Amino acid sequence: MNKVCIFNDEEEVSKAAAAFILEHSKKSIENKGRFTIALSGGKTPSLLYNLLAQLPYSKELHWKTIFIFWGDERCVPHDSDQNNSHMAKKLLLDHVPIPRENIFPVQVQMQAGKAALQYEQMLKVFFKQELPVFDLILLGMGEDGHTASLFPGTETTSTQSLVNAVKKPADQTERITFTPQLINNAKQVLFLVTGKNKADILKEVLENKSKNKYPVQLIHPKNGKTLWYADKPAATLLKKIK
Ligand code: 6PG
Repeated sequence: MNKVCIFNDEEEVSKAAAAFILEHSKKSIENKGRFTIALSGGKTPSLLYNLLAQLPYSKELHWKTIFIFWGDERCVPHDSDQNNSHMAKKLLLDHVPIPRENIFPVQVQMQAGKAALQYEQMLKVFFKQELPVFDLILLGMGEDGHTASLFPGTETTSTQSLVNAVKKPADQTERITFTPQLINNAKQVLFLVTGKNKADILKEVLENKSKNKYPVQLIHPKNGKTLWYADKPAATLLKKIK
């Protein structure tokens, strides 16, 4: 079930997302002593990461029991500006008291297939589950309807694996991505979509239910919920809000 919340602009989207993460993390930590979150890459979450690095979040989030993963990663060096974990480190993780051992970047120095396998095995060991259940998976959406690094036209569902090595069709760059199977096992998925350039695809994905035409439409957690936080420019073509 999709729940869509519309905000005036990307700043309000980011503030709402930060508040949601704080609330969700508190509940998870109260219930089971930890909060596991998979971050997304791209530009949209940068404002959110900045917010989480500042008061009140830098102080109110219980960083010692928060565990950070990535839903996808570009196979570029850890210190590249294109690397998603590098972006989160620069904007957030280097500015909060989170133990290094709570942060799980993709081992991009490995060959892509090996890095995907290593990440999958690490997840199974960390979660002590063959099919890990993330408390929260943060996702963005591209104008082509991709999410994480699940791109249109690439094999996204045939696999039983949890983490895949893929190539971005537009430029054949290698990436590591969670599969729909893993994402759909999360307790909660939160999409952040901002900007008028996302208006067409957001309408298409939310209102024209062309069955699984886009990878993003494969995301519907079986025991969890899907929340969309969009700003008005991105939501401008939406007829009805669910
Ligand atoms: C990535 C992301 C990707 C991103 C979308 C939207 O590694 O690029 O995980 O799925 O969320 O491409 O990107 P923007 O936020 O830059 O529009």
